[in-house]
Amino acid sequence: MKILLLGSGGREHALAWKISQSTKVEKIFIAPGNAGTSLIGENLPVKADDFAAIREAVLSKGVDMVVVGPEDPLVKGIYDFFKADKDLSSIPVIGPSKAGAVLEGSKDFAKGFMQRHHIPTARYQTFNGSTLDEGIAFLRTLKAPYVLKADGLCAGKGVLIVDTLEEAEKELKEMLGGMFGDASSRVVIEEYLSGVECSVFVLTDGVSYKILPEAKDYKRIGEGDTGNNTGGMGSVSPVPFADAKWMKKVEDRIIRPTIEGLAAEGIDYKGFIFFGLMNCEGNPYVIEYNVRMGDPETETVMLRLKSDIVDLFEGVATKTLACKTLEIDFRSAVCIMLVSGGYPGKYEKGFPIEGFDNVEGSIIFHSGTAMKEGQTVTNGGRVIAVSSYGNSQQEALERSFQNAQRILFNGKYFRKDIGKDIL
Ligand code: AMP
Ligand code: GLY
Repeated sequence: MKILLLGSGGREHALAWKISQSTKVEKIFIAPGNAGTSLIGENLPVKADDFAAIREAVLSKGVDMVVVGPEDPLVKGIYDFFKADKDLSSIPVIGPSKAGAVLEGSKDFAKGFMQRHHIPTARYQTFNGSTLDEGIAFLRTLKAPYVLKADGLCAGKGVLIVDTLEEAEKELKEMLGGMFGDASSRVVIEEYLSGVECSVFVLTDGVSYKILPEAKDYKRIGEGDTGNNTGGMGSVSPVPFADAKWMKKVEDRIIRPTIEGLAAEGIDYKGFIFFGLMNCEGNPYVIEYNVRMGDPETETVMLRLKSDIVDLFEGVATKTLACKTLEIDFRSAVCIMLVSGGYPGKYEKGFPIEGFDNVEGSIIFHSGTAMKEGQTVTNGGRVIAVSSYGNSQQEALERSFQNAQRILFNGKYFRKDIGKDIL
């Protein structure tokens, strides 16, 4: 079977790594991919949201299945595009329909969905330019800190958490005034939830679902969770507090009502759901839905998935996921992200990356890399994910930290406290 994977980050390298281990796969194409994915399959010079070019590639290469990494193509409707095209309609797309992708594409829709299906989440209201005064009045009913979210996709930048009411009112006006363009023409204001975050993932065929290993990611650039938000500086799996009792609450209160809610609303959903959860005194609340895997969580979750992922994808495509078994590796997995100096602010690209041959006992996933005249060079803020197994989290962390030092590029930075808070 020939598989086309869309995307170009560490998540896609980790997915490609896992897909390539399947005995069912003859060839994997990645569009557009990065220097790391080119070691596993064939990169195609096609953007992940260029549907016409994807169509052409699928037909000319004889692709049998499309797996979607990032949210953009899903929110733009790639699933529906395939369904509506007579030459493509028999080729399964692993990812939800456009209607399903709205769970990530609109925070207001996601909050309304949770309310309709009694899924625990922070109290909220949504406002637009003509209800600014009501928005300010609602802010005054809440306690600090204040959480303001642009309704639409903002590449992870659309959530503001501010400490004072004055700041919150000012930001609300600016957001509704176009701070994030059309994405913030509506703003969700919600109650602040305090607790520890955990990312839970399921793969669903719309009826049945499999719960993948959970993970925790580290979003801030600085040690001790300080400084600006990033795409993610590392991840660990398992998460100690996500024991069987907690996961049962997650399944009963969140996962099952979500899958049943999607079906009840007639939403076609075949793919991953990422539940961004907050553990508040032992009870899980949904912070956000994503309609894809997380990055850098995928760089640990794929290590712990023992089952053939392509077999699971076939179960998704043919609605026979219930017949498949999910096997999970008992070992711990961690990922340390090596980033460019200056990230998440301004940084330079194009620096040579050395030392791959010195890595021992870790799995290297490329996040932002490219090939330039035969040399792997930095090509993004997040550059390399160093993932490792261990019989304990400590052991896995030690391996990743050792190898993080062996990979060299100008300006390299990584957090040395990943996992420390939950060990
Ligand atoms: P989101 O894009 O919705 O995941 O929000 C980005 C980050 O903001 C989350 O990962 C949380 O760390 C934080 N966050 C979002 N909503 C809340 C909330 N209601 N209470 C506390 N923290 C939040
Ligand atoms: N790691 C969080 C995300 O992928 O959105």
